Amino acid sequence: MRAALRSVRCVEARVAVLASGEGTNLQALLDDPEVGGWIALVVSDRADAKALERARDRGIGARHLDVNGYRDRVSYDRALRELLEGERVGCVVLAGFMRMLGPEVVRSFEGRIVNVHPALLPSFPGAHAVSDALAWGAKVTGVTVHLVDEQMDHGPIVAQEAVPVLPDDDWDSLESRIHEVEHRLLPAAVRAMAEGRLRVEGRSVHVLEEPAGG
Ligand code: GAR
Repeated sequence: MRAALRSVRCVEARVAVLASGEGTNLQALLDDPEVGGWIALVVSDRADAKALERARDRGIGARHLDVNGYRDRVSYDRALRELLEGERVGCVVLAGFMRMLGPEVVRSFEGRIVNVHPALLPSFPGAHAVSDALAWGAKVTGVTVHLVDEQMDHGPIVAQEAVPVLPDDDWDSLESRIHEVEHRLLPAAVRAMAEGRLRVEGRSVHVLEEPAGG
């Protein structure tokens, strides 16, 4: 039996972006005329993440949430939930955030968290998707944007696009073509999520032209 239809809509378009590294996906979100104006907070688990610098350059709140400051994953997860709720965040974007979210955050923002992954899930999950695709000899890899559930790289798929692996590709060349696709797919998916245009039916996500009623 199929799960009931469920519309996903952010309570309000205050978006938090979580990122651990360079933040080129964050930059694509900041540069999007609509999404850029919704980003209220950027959080990183790494003090030296360039993503934090990109947020500060735009005058957007930038927080380093250091995992070493918490006794376990549960307390880190709680602190993250409290931070997001304290900032009245409606939607969360994982843009190269290299930690799995704990159940407390996932449940609090159910259906309102998207992740971008540099492969065609369910192929090549995890933190090394680009090198895994190269090592496997894949001819095609790509980009997946998906809703986040409690399992890693697992939730319903919002958008996917293939990227060919060329015979001379190395990590840099393949990653850079993957990034080009990510920088297009992720802002479009965030717009759709924040505008309530995602309708989820089991594992299927329909991206609507207009916000779902109800
Ligand atoms: C992106 O390619 C993203 O898909 C990947 O990290 C990169 C971050 O780049 N995420 C994962 O691998 C998550 N499993 P960025 O910091 O330049 O946006």
